Amino acid sequence: MGLFDKFQGLVAARGELEALGIDPFGVEIERILSPTEGIIRGRRTILAGTNNYLGLTFHPDCIAAAHRALDAEGTGTTGSRMANGSYASHRRLEAELAAFYGMRDAIVFSTGYQANLGVLAGLTGPKDVVLLDADCHASLYDGCRLSGAEVIRFRHNNADELATRLRRLGARAADALIVVEGIYSMLGDRAPLEEIVAAKREHGGYLLVDEAHSLGVLGERGRGLVEELGVLADADLIVGTFSKSLGGTGGFCVSDLPALELVRYSSRPYIFTASPSPATIASTRQALSILASGRELRARLRANFEHLHARLTAMGYTLGASPSPVIAVVLADRVEALQFWNHLLQRGVYVNLMLPPATPNGVSLIRCSVSAAHSPEQIDAVCAAFAELRATAGSVVAEHGAGG
Ligand SMILES: Cc1ncc(COP(=O)(O)O)c(C=O)c1O
Repeated sequence: MGLFDKFQGLVAARGELEALGIDPFGVEIERILSPTEGIIRGRRTILAGTNNYLGLTFHPDCIAAAHRALDAEGTGTTGSRMANGSYASHRRLEAELAAFYGMRDAIVFSTGYQANLGVLAGLTGPKDVVLLDADCHASLYDGCRLSGAEVIRFRHNNADELATRLRRLGARAADALIVVEGIYSMLGDRAPLEEIVAAKREHGGYLLVDEAHSLGVLGERGRGLVEELGVLADADLIVGTFSKSLGGTGGFCVSDLPALELVRYSSRPYIFTASPSPATIASTRQALSILASGRELRARLRANFEHLHARLTAMGYTLGASPSPVIAVVLADRVEALQFWNHLLQRGVYVNLMLPPATPNGVSLIRCSVSAAHSPEQIDAVCAAFAELRATAGSVVAEHGAGG
């Protein structure tokens, strides 16, 4: 087996897409115009697959804060948080995140991916056990791999199975780490956190909730599903990202556990990478303060996603979950998903194409992510493109199956 033989399957899959004239994984946004619009393939396109939930990427206060930091502190830190890469602003953001959640401590990482790697591999090791929801994001799986912990998967959102697995662990359950997400990234469904917390209370263990898709989206103050369901105090560790509702890049973990501070010293993804740039930290701090200061953006986001969800349902589409900013349209197979994705783009609507093996249960999905910044007209245009596809579904596949 040669070094490059592993790519044969990939080459074949790419060839298949080329034959169809579709390149869903090489899309270039030639020019970004706003949080919800860009130029793709030379055409003005509505961006409905960006995770820009609150639309803060172009907020004037965030841009101004980033400008000021760029001027005052330069383009990059050129070092790790552990060495020369912790500026006062990184520490301030940590204090602000901890205060936002009402927790003792927070750690800022360079991305959300690294936050998950860093917390899991910093906290758990080969002698520990992690109970992982089967649909968890790749970064949570990769964090477990890096840690070398024993991983016990439980069926997605199945708190009974989690309870059974905890019970079987006996005395070890007390130190087990249970890992779930708030809103799941592919289907947009929510974790049954009350039941998961009940299992934890009965059998023991610590709970980590990744709120990447629910920060700023759910909860009275935007603190995610843990807040919405009133279980914030039961979440021992909350991780999240700056790259979605906060419109930047970076990630974090907050916790009341005194040991969180020690994770810095044992976390390779914290130690062996450069820290986020001053401009990134400055825009994130500004975005967090906007997110925390009111409910208006959250209310607008909710109105938008409830509206799109209701309209797609009325058109007869099968959707992945009840309304959330992630609206996954379940399609028959890969070919149908590819054709739908391509047709939406041709009609000026960009969404995410999600295919197995990246999806749960091998489903093929068109994943829309809704923003507070989408105007009613943009939501209408997205709906119109989906309605057109619904009307012509059979011919769409036939027309393009031949190689169009
Ligand atoms: C659930 C979840 N966790 C973590 C991440 C990683 O975040 P980041 O893009 O900041 O690395 C993502 C990104 O898609 C995610 O969906």
